[in-house]
Amino acid sequence: MTLPIIAYGDPVLKKKASEVDKNQSGIRELIENMFETMYKAEGVGLAAPQVGQSLRIFVVDATPFKKDDEKLDGFKKVFINPEIIESTGKEILFNEGCLSFPNIREDIWRKPEVFIRYYDEDFNLHEEKYDGIAARILQHEYDHIEGIVFIDRISPLKRRIIKGKLNSIAKGLVDVNYRMKFPARKQKSYS
Ligand code: NI
Repeated sequence: MTLPIIAYGDPVLKKKASEVDKNQSGIRELIENMFETMYKAEGVGLAAPQVGQSLRIFVVDATPFKKDDEKLDGFKKVFINPEIIESTGKEILFNEGCLSFPNIREDIWRKPEVFIRYYDEDFNLHEEKYDGIAARILQHEYDHIEGIVFIDRISPLKRRIIKGKLNSIAKGLVDVNYRMKFPARKQKSYS
């Protein structure tokens, strides 16, 4: 089942997500729905807060980047309760987008390598090192479960420039070809 993707402006995107309990029910179904939702929206990563679940889970499938890096062909993974133990190297710029911010792309500085510890969908523990586009995606998604979105990493000036676009997203005034949930419009006060 595809789920509506939460748009910029909803407080769930700014909230630090909770750890997942091994025995928590509905996790497999959530993961399955997250993949389906991500594929439908043609994304390469999706975090649980983006479907309204404030949980420390994200899914990635970087296969669309296989032309840039053949290691990414079939790079499909689930990250539960991940911890970025270390990110290393000299920060580089890369153009990012986010399914919660349709039609916005920004160059974001991030470190080029990450060392990450996480549980997979069977709750097996892994510790792995990634670089390149994989490291980029993992850091973007990890930010989501910390309540950080990519535009939090641009300069105040750039943010002012895109303010109008951001307001339009929050109001649902965007052209988007996947299902989204926009924050409730402010109620007029008559008091
Ligand atoms: Ni995102």
